[in-house]
Amino acid sequence: MSMSTDEEAKEYLYKVLVIGEASVGKTSIIKRYVHRVFSAVYQATIGVDFAMKLLPWDDHTLINLQMWDIAGQERYGNMTRVYYREAVGAFIVFDVSRSATFDAVQKWKNDLDEKVHLPNGKPVPCILLANKCDKPKEGIVIDAKKMEEYCVEKGFLQWYETSAKDNINIDAATHSLVAKIIENEKYNNWHEEHDQYNKLVNLRESGMRQNNDCC
Ligand code: GTP
Ligand code: MG
Repeated sequence: MSMSTDEEAKEYLYKVLVIGEASVGKTSIIKRYVHRVFSAVYQATIGVDFAMKLLPWDDHTLINLQMWDIAGQERYGNMTRVYYREAVGAFIVFDVSRSATFDAVQKWKNDLDEKVHLPNGKPVPCILLANKCDKPKEGIVIDAKKMEEYCVEKGFLQWYETSAKDNINIDAATHSLVAKIIENEKYNNWHEEHDQYNKLVNLRESGMRQNNDCC
């Protein structure tokens, strides 16, 4: 969504969702990314929380990243549809030290794909975050090749091992999601322009046909 028509620097607002089971580190990832801090004290998110990050992308693009931090327990509620609305990207987070949180990833992905789409009807780009990689791993996440296959099969753009505690890969993962969002937006804009061009051509042609009819 464009917020400014300034020819020098355009400002964009992107809504990104951060979802996954309770206590996997969603709030910690956002706090690390936005405020550069980490706390070992667990305070469960109630409902939804927000954080905004201004991300200068290049000389003529400024990104306002609006991160929606959704409580893990919300998958059992019915508010996710409302929270997901108009999102253009998502992170699904699990905890590498608790394989049950990976088992729930598929449910979060299904929930996401059922409830929100890009304006062109495609699924919202989604990156899988294997968080707490500073801790011993359990389950499929030990095998990087299997993780790659899982991502391809389930429609994840990519996966990253992250640690909010040690600040590992959080910037990289966000950069990669934003790059995909920008690419999608460009395609959408192109699509809109193309649609408008087609409409003009159709109008012209129907106008010509009408002229022919009347002559
Ligand atoms: P809900 O709000 O209940 O959905 O949980 P959440 O996913 O937001 O988890 P939160 O960020 O609150 O983190 C849960 C606990 O895990 C806290 O005690 C954090 O300090 C801890 N934690 C988060 N990220 C990491 C990490 O990368 N490494 C380690 N070792 N601990 C982490
Ligand atoms: Mg939280």
